Amino acid sequence: MPSQIRPPPSPPPLLPLPIPLLFLVLLFSIAAVSFASDYACQELSTSCGNVTDITYPFWLANDTAELVTPCGYPDFMVICRDNTPILSLATDNYTVIHIDHDRSIISLADADIVGNAVACPRVRHNLTFPPDSSLAYAPSDANLTFYFNCNVNLTEYMSPCLGKKSFVLTDDMIENNSFVPHNCEAVIVAPVLQEHLKSYQYELAYGFREALHEGFELNWSASTNDPCSHCEQSDGRCGLDETSRSTSVFACFCSDGRTASYNCSGTFTYLRPL
Ligand SMILES: *[C@@H]1O[C@H](CO)[C@@H](O)[C@H](O)[C@H]1NC(C)=O
Ligand SMILES: *[C@@H]1O[C@H](CO)[C@@H](O)[C@H](O)[C@H]1NC(C)=O
Ligand SMILES: *[C@@H]1O[C@H](CO)[C@@H](O)[C@H](O)[C@H]1NC(C)=O
Ligand SMILES: *[C@@H]1O[C@H](CO)[C@@H](O)[C@H](O)[C@H]1NC(C)=O
Ligand SMILES: *[C@@H]1O[C@H](CO)[C@@H](O)[C@H](O)[C@H]1NC(C)=O
Ligand SMILES: *[C@@H]1O[C@H](CO)[C@@H](O)[C@H](O)[C@H]1NC(C)=O
Ligand SMILES: *[C@@H]1O[C@H](CO)[C@@H](O)[C@H](O)[C@H]1NC(C)=O
Ligand SMILES: *[C@@H]1O[C@H](CO)[C@@H](O)[C@H](O)[C@H]1NC(C)=O
Ligand SMILES: *[C@@H]1O[C@H](CO)[C@@H](O)[C@H](O)[C@H]1NC(C)=O
Repeated sequence: MPSQIRPPPSPPPLLPLPIPLLFLVLLFSIAAVSFASDYACQELSTSCGNVTDITYPFWLANDTAELVTPCGYPDFMVICRDNTPILSLATDNYTVIHIDHDRSIISLADADIVGNAVACPRVRHNLTFPPDSSLAYAPSDANLTFYFNCNVNLTEYMSPCLGKKSFVLTDDMIENNSFVPHNCEAVIVAPVLQEHLKSYQYELAYGFREALHEGFELNWSASTNDPCSHCEQSDGRCGLDETSRSTSVFACFCSDGRTASYNCSGTFTYLRPL
């Protein structure tokens, strides 16, 4: 910040933009518009319920459209069901709460939990990502570990609503205690937001429901050993080229409207030339 005190600026002249400048501005906006619409893949719709920006690399599946050429990461298909956007990870469904394109972060919650009005929902699956996945847990996450029906005589951290001798522990509790429930029927690790966990720290036995409802965050990027990262580096967008409903192959949609099989620079074969 300059510490120097400047005289107040003189009022702007009430003249229209000089004609050449106006022309330039106009030219640029036309170029921007045509650039944006030159990708061969077009999003048919981007809204579902409260989530309005289901855009690349995510894509909203549309059952009614005849032939879709999805532009987005193949695994990032979002289905709109009863005005709720659903993303499937592994074999399980997650409700999309928010997509932050600037930070490359998607906020999700377990669809089983969100769609269930019961006071004491039961988590049923772990969610893990291989190291080369295009999704990863964001630094804002923490874990809640659920221990179901353990053969131990302890009352600390017990969550009676989950059933006989079931426990909920945060990472801190596990770290700080020599006690970890053992001989359990099932152990499930569920991601939650660190920030929300703080407010439920002392009433976790029941408060875990709220923490689960508030969801967790994942960050995304094209995995480096994925063909997609090469496509994106060449200013393309990854997607699928569907020649029919049953066959689809990886495609790189270039900003000039062409579709490449690998990336948009260098010499390559066009799946679909201009
Ligand atoms: C949309 O947001 C409103 C206000 O936050 C909320 O009451 C409503 O349940 C949301 N709708 C869906 C389908 O999530
Ligand atoms: C599917 O796409 C068509 C246009 O092809 C659009 O009119 C319709 O609203 C879309 N449906 C959904 C559920 O997005
Ligand atoms: C996930 O949602 C899809 C589409 O609605 C549904 O067919 C599938 O059964 C759901 N999977 C689970 C594990 O609930
Ligand atoms: C939570 O647990 C999963 C494994 O279930 C692990 O991959 C992840 O790093 C853990 N997150 C935190 C914040 O410790
Ligand atoms: C728990 O306590 C009951 C009764 O006090 C006893 O019968 C049982 O063996 C104990 N179980 C363990 C795992 O210590
Ligand atoms: C666990 O230990 C850390 C560091 O010693 C401390 O900051 C934290 O408050 C402890 N958490 C609990 C739940 O006792
Ligand atoms: C879930 O993850 C925890 C910790 O990694 C593991 O102990 C447990 O067996 C897993 N549960 C299932 C059902 O895979
Ligand atoms: C997620 O973010 C972490 C930390 O910012 C980063 O190291 C990691 O590569 C990211 N992973 C993905 C798949 O975006
Ligand atoms: C694009 O593909 C060409 C070969 O067709 C390769 O030489 C070039 O390095 C690739 N560019 C990127 C950004 O991957």
